[in-house]
Amino acid sequence: MASLAVLLLVVCAVLASGAAGVRVGLTRIHSDPGVTASQFVRDALRRDMHREHARSGRVLAAASADGTVSARTRKDLPNGGEYLMTLAVGTPPVAYPAIADTGSDLIWTQCAPCGDRCFKQPAPLYNPSSSTTFAVLPCNSSLSMCAALAGASPPPGCACMYNQTYGTGWTAGVQGSETFTFGSSPADQARVPGVAFGCSNASSDDWNGSAGLVGLGRGALSLVSQLGAGRFSYCLTPFQDANSTSTLLLGPSAALDGTAGVRTTPFVAGPSRSPMSTYYYLNLTGISLGATALSIPPNVFSLNADGTGGLIIDSGTTITSLVDAAYQRVRAAVKSLVTLPTTDGSDATGLDLCFALPSETSAPPAMPAMTLHFDGADMVLAADSYMISGSGLWCLAMRSQPDGAMSTLGNYQQQNMHILYDVRKETLSFAPAKCSTL
Ligand SMILES: *[C@@H]1O[C@H](CO)[C@@H](O)[C@H](O)[C@H]1NC(C)=O
Ligand SMILES: *[C@@H]1O[C@H](CO)[C@@H](O)[C@H](O)[C@H]1NC(C)=O
Ligand SMILES: *[C@@H]1O[C@H](CO)[C@@H](O)[C@H](O)[C@H]1NC(C)=O
Ligand SMILES: *[C@@H]1O[C@H](CO)[C@@H](O)[C@H](O)[C@H]1NC(C)=O
Ligand SMILES: *[C@@H]1O[C@H](CO)[C@@H](O)[C@H](O)[C@H]1NC(C)=O
Ligand SMILES: *[C@@H]1O[C@H](CO)[C@@H](O)[C@H](O)[C@H]1NC(C)=O
Repeated sequence: MASLAVLLLVVCAVLASGAAGVRVGLTRIHSDPGVTASQFVRDALRRDMHREHARSGRVLAAASADGTVSARTRKDLPNGGEYLMTLAVGTPPVAYPAIADTGSDLIWTQCAPCGDRCFKQPAPLYNPSSSTTFAVLPCNSSLSMCAALAGASPPPGCACMYNQTYGTGWTAGVQGSETFTFGSSPADQARVPGVAFGCSNASSDDWNGSAGLVGLGRGALSLVSQLGAGRFSYCLTPFQDANSTSTLLLGPSAALDGTAGVRTTPFVAGPSRSPMSTYYYLNLTGISLGATALSIPPNVFSLNADGTGGLIIDSGTTITSLVDAAYQRVRAAVKSLVTLPTTDGSDATGLDLCFALPSETSAPPAMPAMTLHFDGADMVLAADSYMISGSGLWCLAMRSQPDGAMSTLGNYQQQNMHILYDVRKETLSFAPAKCSTL
């Protein structure tokens, strides 16, 4: 986590002017080369698992006695492989690193004063009273989380207090409006006024390494929606590459035109209820290992009318989870191809299929690619994108979910792919890429 301070930002042009869009560097929270693969996976899994618990007890949007709005999403402890972007809030701008998360909508950062309810962040704390562009977001704003509670004519000066719960983590404060700045050097800065955000003065301490979060989901509060960006893309460098910066592009500069091997699949329309309305659902129709199509029962990834099931793509989850009916076929197929002895790696990694390498420095044996067959688009995962090695262990970097639950395509499986979310066309496109050189 020591390398968090080094974040590269380049902004090509101002979004509002209709020009090329915004380019932001992303670094991984665990880009400390001292962190072993097994520690990385264990931390990531701990976080992903907490998120599962949260799902079963999900509260959508409810008001407590004091009028605070609560909203839950699936995000959780950011200690194992999330990607950070740097942006700046206020006038003068205060820069801070935030988790880039396609699985939630709210943009938030910690605001002074917050006494002992704030977590320690790796950047100076933003103080709204020192900014000339801060305003409390009026409750009659279409972006107020309290709009439904406040009624048709909320009292003047009404402020919306929120408590956003993410699995075991949460953050609470008042909704504000601010000017946000993207880009590090004055020459390339894009300043966007009037962005609705969460000004948090109390949070759990689960956000180590960041100073908040940037939601990139489908909802009105996300950065993508508020900028009217229409589309965004990212290209995530592999975990093993601790030194490179990943890229996030917002707006017109997010494009795969002229790139070889582009595949496109439609998003599946999700329920209009929160939090499902935030997620990017995909239609996964099958999985192959090498040339062999696995005999996965049909419809195990279908999204049900009651909002259960389905498969989403999420930049804020690390390890892919598949419903058990599919996971067991993948596990068996991988196991059948490997002659190394299996070993219990669950203490070290939390993963359930691990092989013992002959020594800590042994290279893992060759494995065929795994193909995820999306509707109209095959996504080919090289062995490094579905197996993870470290400390003499070599494990399947996927996990099982109860049948009927939601499956998630995590960021470990998205590495070295340029992935474009076109929210206007309702499609996801992707192409193999060397993300460190994008
Ligand atoms: C956060 O701000 C709200 C609104 O100003 C206030 O009611 C609350 O006491 C503050 N909480 C903390 C922990 O400072
Ligand atoms: C919100 O209320 C204020 C006065 O309380 C009014 O001036 C403003 O036009 C209202 N905005 C909307 C979007 O209704
Ligand atoms: C926010 O919600 C969480 C989970 O329900 C709770 O533990 C926490 O105390 C709440 N925080 C505030 C400031 O209300
Ligand atoms: C947060 O990070 C610090 C130092 O990097 C570490 O000592 C602490 O245990 C971490 N806390 C959590 C909750 O992970
Ligand atoms: C990453 O950067 C560190 C410090 O600059 C350097 O020592 C190390 O060799 C680099 N690793 C790679 C794989 O380039
Ligand atoms: C998923 O893709 C299959 C194959 O193209 C298609 O038959 C099916 O209708 C799609 N389902 C949804 C919900 O789009």
